[in-house]
Parts: sequence; C-alpha cells; structure tokens
Amino acid sequence: MTATDEFTVMVGRLNKLSVERHFDAYADIDWDDPKFALDMTDPRLELPVLDPLRHTDWYAAQTPDVRAAVGCYRWAACMKTGWHFENLLQRGLLRHTFSLPNGAPEFRYLHHEIIEESQHTLMFQEFVNRSGLPVRGMPWGLRKLAELVVVPLSRLFPALFFLFVLGGEDPVDHLQRRVLKDSDDTDLHPLVERIMRIHTTEEARHLSFARHYMHRRVPELGFVRRQALALVAPVALGIMARVMLWPTGDLIRHGGVPRRVVRQANWSPAGRQLLKDSVSKTRKLFRELGLINPLSRTLWKAAGLWDEESKAK
Ligand SMILES: [Fe+2]
Ligand SMILES: [Fe+2]
Repeated sequence: MTATDEFTVMVGRLNKLSVERHFDAYADIDWDDPKFALDMTDPRLELPVLDPLRHTDWYAAQTPDVRAAVGCYRWAACMKTGWHFENLLQRGLLRHTFSLPNGAPEFRYLHHEIIEESQHTLMFQEFVNRSGLPVRGMPWGLRKLAELVVVPLSRLFPALFFLFVLGGEDPVDHLQRRVLKDSDDTDLHPLVERIMRIHTTEEARHLSFARHYMHRRVPELGFVRRQALALVAPVALGIMARVMLWPTGDLIRHGGVPRRVVRQANWSPAGRQLLKDSVSKTRKLFRELGLINPLSRTLWKAAGLWDEESKAK
C-alpha cells in the first residue's frame, strides 16, 4: 500500500468514528442537572493531584473553601485558554480546507474536527459562564501573535501549522487523561469529569489525524522546511505547554497566590516532569520523523522538554 493509500484508509477510519461517536455540548450534557451545579465551596473542585500547585505549603495552609475556589478558577481558566486555542485551530483548519482540491481525503475529516472543536468551545464557555469567574484565557499578546502568524501557516506551511496543533492538543490531552485516571482514587467534580471524558474521546481522533498528517507530509518536505520544523518545534512546544499547563496570571492575582509559590510549583521536580511528559508523544513523533538533530536537541533541553527516555531511543 502506498503512503497515500494508507493515509486515505486512516482518514476513512477517523471519519467513521466521528459519525459513530460524537457529542453535542447541550444534548449530551444536562447542564441543569443538580449534580452538575458549580458550588465554589465544593471540595471536589480542589486542584487535582497532578497539579504541582496543590502540593505547595501555601495551598495546604488555605481553608477548604479557598482551596476549592482556587481549583474552580483553575478549571475555568483552563477551559477559556482551551477554547481560545480551539478558535485559532478552527480558523486555521478552515483556511486549510479552503484550498483543498476535489476528492482530497482530508477534507471531510477536517470538517468533522472543526465541528467537534466548535462543540468543545461551547461546552468550555458554558462552564466558564456558569462559574461566573472573570477568567481571561490565553495571554492577549500570544492570541494576537497566533492570529497573525500561526493561522496563515495552515496554508503556507501546513506541517508547521500541525506542529502548533499538537503543541496545544498534546499537553491538554495528557493532563486530562492523568486527571481522569487519578479520579478513580480522588473525587472529581462530575461536571468537570463529564466535560473531560467528552473532550478526550474526540481529541484522540484529532491527535491521531495530526500525527498521521505529519507522517504523510514531512517526508515530502525539502531540507529548509525540515530544518525549520526541527528548530521551531522545541521553542513552540516550550511556550505552548507552559500556556496550557501553568497557572494563568489572572488566576494568580484572583486567588492571591504569591509569585514565589507559583515559581516553586512550576519548577518543582514534579512540575518539570509534568512539562516533559506533556509533550512526550510529540517528541516521539519528531524522533520518528528524523527531526531531532544536535542543534534542535539543545533547544529541546533548553526548553525543559528533553527526557532521559528520549535519549534511550
Ligand atoms: Fe477540543
Ligand atoms: Fe482537538
């Protein structure tokens, strides 16, 4: 089977799954069910176990109500950042499909993905609205930069655009899977859990597409574009993983979290490991694509994203 045939088969499989198993933000979440109500003092809203901020002395010293309020703000902030990213992603994908020829196998799948991202945006913003919290999402400068630079890449340099897609989706997927796994032992708020289960189900397809797309397209690229991808990846992922995982500035101000506590959490051994783990699948993909060279490896290390496991392979 040629690479094109394999790609077409994979896309066909994702199309089928998108029809068989998809969610609607309002039909599939009963927002008014009392069990989904957001009560800022609910201890199930406390920060999840994998969040390094949870393990600081500062957090432990807060009252249960403050801990729950900080946790709720954290979820709402993540969701706002999440839909800012998804909005940019949808715009990029729409631009990309705009120039596809008749019969392009990815056309249908990309529209399934755009529709799903729209549903995610609706459920994330509904959560934010119900929390009533003034979360701000992605930093303004980064939003503008992404609009001006990243969105146009979807037509000018699609493989680089899909690197940014992975940079947003991989860390969030990692975080959500870990939180859902930990929820077997600790209580997670049912609304947060419902949203995450829906999201991880559909994101698995998006990530699969992005990785297959890279496998299909990167080998066709010339030397310059391959080098550009290799060098931009650690820088872009280093920024994006932090945007997706680290507490946002508005959370720090709203929750009155001292800056030194945030630094302590982000740079703790667990915080550093979380960052590395959150991009492990993309790092593996870049190794498979032959896009890690001595110079880019230095950048992966400088970005705090290199792991021993990467060296072993
Ligand atoms: Fe999404
Ligand atoms: Fe996605």
